Amino acid sequence: MGGSQRDPLPRFTTLSATEREHVRLYFKELGDALMPVLVPGAHIILAGTPMLQHLVQSGFAEAGFEVRGAIMRLYRGFRGGDRPKNAETEFPEVCVTPRGNYEPWMLFRKPISERTVADNLRKWGTGALRRIGVDQPLPDIIQSGKTPALEEAIFDHPTMKPQHLLRILVRALLPMGEGWILEPFAGSGSTIAACQAVGYDSMGIELDDEYFAALEGNIRTLAAMYPGLNGASLEQPVMPAVKHGSGAISAPSRQQPLFATPA
Ligand SMILES: C[S@@+](CC[C@H](N)C(=O)[O-])C[C@H]1O[C@@H](n2cnc3c(N)ncnc32)[C@H](O)[C@@H]1O
Repeated sequence: MGGSQRDPLPRFTTLSATEREHVRLYFKELGDALMPVLVPGAHIILAGTPMLQHLVQSGFAEAGFEVRGAIMRLYRGFRGGDRPKNAETEFPEVCVTPRGNYEPWMLFRKPISERTVADNLRKWGTGALRRIGVDQPLPDIIQSGKTPALEEAIFDHPTMKPQHLLRILVRALLPMGEGWILEPFAGSGSTIAACQAVGYDSMGIELDDEYFAALEGNIRTLAAMYPGLNGASLEQPVMPAVKHGSGAISAPSRQQPLFATPA
């Protein structure tokens, strides 16, 4: 990001002090760039990793944003849980870190300009988050499987996020259902597609020419998937039947929950 190369799965615990400071500084500079273009009370949401979360939060806090916790995306990860390297048989009952089963989506807010949240909502339409429904606040844990193969088949991007999760999250960012969503790292176009599905105006920025060229088509295709899935429910979409090589068709399925979804 920002000129840095994405390496295959760095061991976050072994980042040097200089590398950790680079991460923190990057998010401080990103915060500095975002501050003047966001209205007071605007929220930022950003996917991270538990080991680096504090550096991202520290960078954004230094830029003047309020740290507003995180929404945990629960899914079966494959990181962590390993025995000590090259000593696996010596320490069979040890794992160096817990096995990862969540991805933190960190929340930040530009300070409100008005005396109260209610006044800020009246003036700017921001300062709070949109509920899932009148009787259901946005939870800070969301059950979310890995990005379905159906979506990943649309475009090869290493970090494409699932429509189910993105539609819930982008919908929550505009409490009055009005305004613009900015996605400064558009990638596959998944966030912009989610905005379209929810019915929000949005704009995206993408550095990579190849990704940029594919955006329009990706957005159209992703936004048209799962009609009716508009972020106003935590229910995961039912996947269409998948045809196997043998011609057999497996039944539609919901992604398997890891834990019970909070009400
Ligand atoms: C983590 S991915 C985002 C993926 C996206 N959320 C999705 O679901 O497809 C980050 C993206 O930001 C792009 N990027 C990195 N630095 C950028 C910059 N300075 N300005 C704009 N885009 C950038 C990368 O090319 C990459 O596609």
